[in-house]
Amino acid sequence: MPRVFSGVQPSGSLTLGNYLGAMRHFVELQDRAECFYCVVDLHALTVPQDPEELRRNTLAVAALFIAVGLDPARTTLFVQSHVPAHAELGWLLQCIAHFGELGRMTQFKEKSEGKESVSVGLFTYPTLMAADILLYDADLVPVGEDQKQHLELTRDLAQRFNQRYGPTFTVPEPAIAQVGARIMSLQNPRRKMSKSDPDPNGYITLLDPPDAVRKKIGRAVTDAGREVRYDEEEKPGISNLLQIYSLLSGEPIPALEERYAGKGYGQFKSDLADVVVAALEPIQRRYHELMNSGTLEDVLAEGAARAQAVAGPKLMEIRQRMGLLDPRSVTGRVGRV
Ligand code: TYM
Repeated sequence: MPRVFSGVQPSGSLTLGNYLGAMRHFVELQDRAECFYCVVDLHALTVPQDPEELRRNTLAVAALFIAVGLDPARTTLFVQSHVPAHAELGWLLQCIAHFGELGRMTQFKEKSEGKESVSVGLFTYPTLMAADILLYDADLVPVGEDQKQHLELTRDLAQRFNQRYGPTFTVPEPAIAQVGARIMSLQNPRRKMSKSDPDPNGYITLLDPPDAVRKKIGRAVTDAGREVRYDEEEKPGISNLLQIYSLLSGEPIPALEERYAGKGYGQFKSDLADVVVAALEPIQRRYHELMNSGTLEDVLAEGAARAQAVAGPKLMEIRQRMGLLDPRSVTGRVGRV
């Protein structure tokens, strides 16, 4: 069975973009791969976080993993900081990565643009992401389009390491869907939907109540004309809404274009709102049950143990390859000097 790894940051509520671009693929893959899905709390620390909120969001993302359909009996769900090998390999890979290649990461450029100062962690972020993936020898990494460059770097680092120290890492393949890998903002369809958008009308979160969903879709920016037609260049707003509609309802885009021919945007948006509300309802119900169940910590403890069982021995192998003295060679010797 192929091995799959992916991560989601616990920074704010997850969006429809996170779900359509990544998490729904996590669910599909659990039937045909050995999957590790991680709440990447260390990555969230690269920008300022309120400690209480970060803890709450970490549990909330774990609950959403299960609420969207991941089965903790079949799939390993865990919190990144619970497996310290991630942070350690992150450091080791910082010593393999080049300053220039990290400086070329577009996400770093975007997130640091116009800021007076940013953390060093924001700069080295992709090496920690590479560590996440390489520790598990993942074959496949399901992500949205925005993570493609980070995955290319991960592949470069794996290859560089293998060349320098001998075959150690599986070189992972990105799994980026043809449709839905880049869900756009409802307010600016030329930018991706993001939870860090200062305008909450730009994104729908998985926990938005029905009236908020209806309002946001009602206010979504549409394009000139009245035609419901897929055309990313001429009609980026409507094309984005058509993608969301099609992915959530399972109806192909041409069938939707036909149904709404000559009907204008109003009916289309109102029906889309119904589709989104209906898709979110069971996720929200399960989410609230889980948050009140007191079982999440058990799931995460079990997940951390399973992840550690893979990551621990892998880290030992990496340390040994790089020439670090085996800590087991000095254990039990305290007090002998
Ligand atoms: P994050 O937390 O920003 O997003 C989680 C996943 O959601 C996808 N995504 C989108 N897909 C389509 N349209 C959108 N508008 C949209 N917004 C987000 C992201 O591509 C991602 O797959 N660096 C990662 C987290 C990470 C990771 C990893 C991922 C850390 N270690 C190891 C894979 C493997 C991130 O910030 O994702």
